[in-house]
Amino acid sequence: MKTIVRVRAPSNIAVIKYMGKSDTSVNLPANSSLSLTLDALCTMTEIEHSPASGFQLEWTGVSEMGGRSLRPLALQEKDRPKMERHFRRVLEHFGAPLAGRWQVRTGNAFPAGAGIASSASGFAALTLAIAAVIGKQQTPRSELAALSRQGSGSSCRSFEGPWVQWDHENAASVEWSLGPLTDLVILIEESEKAVGSSEAHQRVRTSPNWSGRVERAKSRLARIRSSLVEGDWKSFSSTCWDEAMDMHELFHTSEPSFSYWKPQTREVLAWLESIGAHRGDVKIGVTLDAGPNVHLLIPQRDEAFWLDKLEEHFPANAVMVDRQGAGAEVLFRRELPA
Ligand code: PMV
Repeated sequence: MKTIVRVRAPSNIAVIKYMGKSDTSVNLPANSSLSLTLDALCTMTEIEHSPASGFQLEWTGVSEMGGRSLRPLALQEKDRPKMERHFRRVLEHFGAPLAGRWQVRTGNAFPAGAGIASSASGFAALTLAIAAVIGKQQTPRSELAALSRQGSGSSCRSFEGPWVQWDHENAASVEWSLGPLTDLVILIEESEKAVGSSEAHQRVRTSPNWSGRVERAKSRLARIRSSLVEGDWKSFSSTCWDEAMDMHELFHTSEPSFSYWKPQTREVLAWLESIGAHRGDVKIGVTLDAGPNVHLLIPQRDEAFWLDKLEEHFPANAVMVDRQGAGAEVLFRRELPA
């Protein structure tokens, strides 16, 4: 028999950042983090598994799946050992042999030029797809998340939604009443990252601001958790801002220092400050990942209003609109004669 599965896994956007590791080998974080699971910004992955001698891994980036156009996710040769390790990790965990021909077809449903990191959605999709091939698609989300984390840290927050907290080895959804939310991503530039996230996780420890970082993240996490439950936008917005600035300030003060910001990132941030987003005067949670693009977490009902404002102030920038989502899912699993 051969088995074909198709899954989709969304990206997530952190408001309390995972930056700095306590154990690099299995991606344990220096501090707990909290993110909003997205929906349309996802990776789609299909695996076809058929009997063969030994273990064969074939990887194809595809530009279409199930009628959706995708950006093909090519496997670079340097990433192959990491992918093979991940297959071994997941199969070993379930006591399944590292055997057969595994044909992976995968792509990102992110618009071209988005400059959106895809390791979270990519690893979550791969982990769920491997598990589904061997019939383990019903595995508790927390268990899949812990496996996925070992491949890519932030991917462990893409298995549930909409709000997921990751503490040490556990990632699980948390209570919320603030919402439903939309993420407006102001696209500044797509450029090859000067510093990859693995390097960033290490380098931030050289910043003088690293001292006290874990405590700062912890107290903001507590603040954001209560603002989520109480629907307190003022506290949510100001805490999002402080946390994003804290992470980027770590980058800017590392040894050697680095920055993901572009001149336009600063312009957008200056405009957001002028409308009081840093103080929570408006219902916008501003955040940035390890990149130049600015994410605005807003109430879904305010989408049109803020899109108009962005068009007025930044007419040259595309804005991507995504909503909160529920996490990775298996779209189908079929067994066919080989
Ligand atoms: O999962 P990684 O190692 O790519 O780290 C991602 C770190 C940030 O995106 C910058 C923050 C986060 O919590 O997602």
